[in-house]
Amino acid sequence: MTLKLSAALAVLFFAATTNAATPTTGYLPQTSPAWLADIPLPSGVIKSWPQTGAVPSGPLPTTAAALDLTTGYPATFQIVTDAATDPQIVAVMKTIDWTKVPNVAPTTETTMTTYSPSDPYCWWTYNGCVTPKVDYIPPDISNCPKEGTWGLTYDDGPMYYFPVTPENEKWAEPNLYNYLLAHNDQKANLMYYGSRIVGAPDAAQRGLNDGHTICVHTWSHPYMTRLTNAQVVAEFYYGLKMIKQVLGITPRCWRPPYGDVDDRVRSIAWQMGLRNIMWDLDTNDWQIPGDLVPGGTLPYSQANATVAGWLENRAKGNDTKVGHVVLEHELSNSTITLAEFWLPTIQKEFQTMPATACNDIAQPYWEESFVYPIQGTVAISMNGSTTNVQAPQISGSTPSGTSSGSGAVSAPTGASKTGGAGHAAVSKITVFGLVAAAVAYIL
Ligand SMILES: *[C@@H]1O[C@H](CO)[C@@H](O)[C@H](O)[C@H]1NC(C)=O
Ligand SMILES: *[C@@H]1O[C@H](CO)[C@@H](O)[C@H](O)[C@H]1NC(C)=O
Ligand SMILES: *[C@@H]1O[C@H](CO)[C@@H](O)[C@H](O)[C@H]1NC(C)=O
Ligand SMILES: *[C@@H]1O[C@H](CO)[C@@H](O)[C@H](O)[C@H]1NC(C)=O
Ligand SMILES: [Zn+2]
Repeated sequence: MTLKLSAALAVLFFAATTNAATPTTGYLPQTSPAWLADIPLPSGVIKSWPQTGAVPSGPLPTTAAALDLTTGYPATFQIVTDAATDPQIVAVMKTIDWTKVPNVAPTTETTMTTYSPSDPYCWWTYNGCVTPKVDYIPPDISNCPKEGTWGLTYDDGPMYYFPVTPENEKWAEPNLYNYLLAHNDQKANLMYYGSRIVGAPDAAQRGLNDGHTICVHTWSHPYMTRLTNAQVVAEFYYGLKMIKQVLGITPRCWRPPYGDVDDRVRSIAWQMGLRNIMWDLDTNDWQIPGDLVPGGTLPYSQANATVAGWLENRAKGNDTKVGHVVLEHELSNSTITLAEFWLPTIQKEFQTMPATACNDIAQPYWEESFVYPIQGTVAISMNGSTTNVQAPQISGSTPSGTSSGSGAVSAPTGASKTGGAGHAAVSKITVFGLVAAAVAYIL
């Protein structure tokens, strides 16, 4: 542990030294997080995408059982109260340019009534703002640019139950993952948070191995704008660390719990390598009462009718402006029931894919050996610049029952160089990896 920590500090010193030379025009440069370089890679997970051969199905893998997911982590499902003095967090904070983080106090219960109506910090919870007021970070991703597209996102996984009983166990993973596989091998974004992964690392490994795109949904699932800077860093750091340890990947995408984000949190996220993915349609499924959510106040029938309304709207030809990123959860028997009930109809009315794919993000991890298919319509990359990777395009199953959906998907634009299994900046615990990270930093 001491050895690992000093290695991490050495890396951090290196990165921090390089930081001074980075340009400050345009979006802030992003870099692969050097502070995760010494996390050992797990076995039992894929190291690249695409994979040839069958994707897994049936029971979950068992390789994750050997992992120690306690040592070096804070308590689960709690904000990290001692973040400011936690050596791991202190080290990461040194890599952040705090002049690029708006100097605003954490929000509180009463901030909503005292906050300036001009929304100086683009606080989503206040008014749904998704375009930062600072110019050095890109807008949030909040829809699919191409009409007739449905970006599938499932939050709060991986799914498990305590206590495990035969009745509720049948809704735990691999239930949804088997269902997606059986329905046209549907891929989705899975927004995992660290504390949940601890309970079901095997399900997380199955999610990655199935070809879903994993984003980080923090460590303990707090309202992020209510936290101190150190606590915000801790939420990203421990969420990313857990994902790296269990899955061997380093996501460049994140989703704020409750959508609670402002420019302070965005700026920290961005400098930790992360782009924010919001949504424009919300099922509110998390409020449906069910196992684990006994206090839910939204009748199942109401969420059900909401989704039915969106589909009807599209079928009537009244949803032709833009595609959607849709918020769903793998959280309870009720959310899984809703997700599975509607998926086949959604697939008929819309072209379905992960929200990252409809935004043409082929490489959602710092490990460049993962290149996922994209829709090929908007030509942006994870960091907000033009797509520069030649990724396969998602073959369009023409959405039927619409008056407008042509189903045709154009070729990727702006493709200029191959991604492939080149230099995976953080996937190897080697000097090479560190040098690659430094090079990426300077660029
Ligand atoms: C985004 O990535 C591209 C290619 O990887 C790179 O050329 C560009 O400088 C990056 N931009 C930022 C803001 O990091
Ligand atoms: C869900 O909506 C569909 C379509 O409107 C309807 O047929 C079904 O009965 C609804 N299910 C529930 C449980 O409300
Ligand atoms: C079309 O959709 C909009 C927004 O959802 C809704 O307000 C309007 O009533 C719909 N029009 C029809 C003809 O369904
Ligand atoms: C989920 O489980 C609860 C408790 O067992 C049950 O009352 C509820 O009907 C279930 N919800 C669905 C949608 O099946
Ligand atoms: Zn959540």
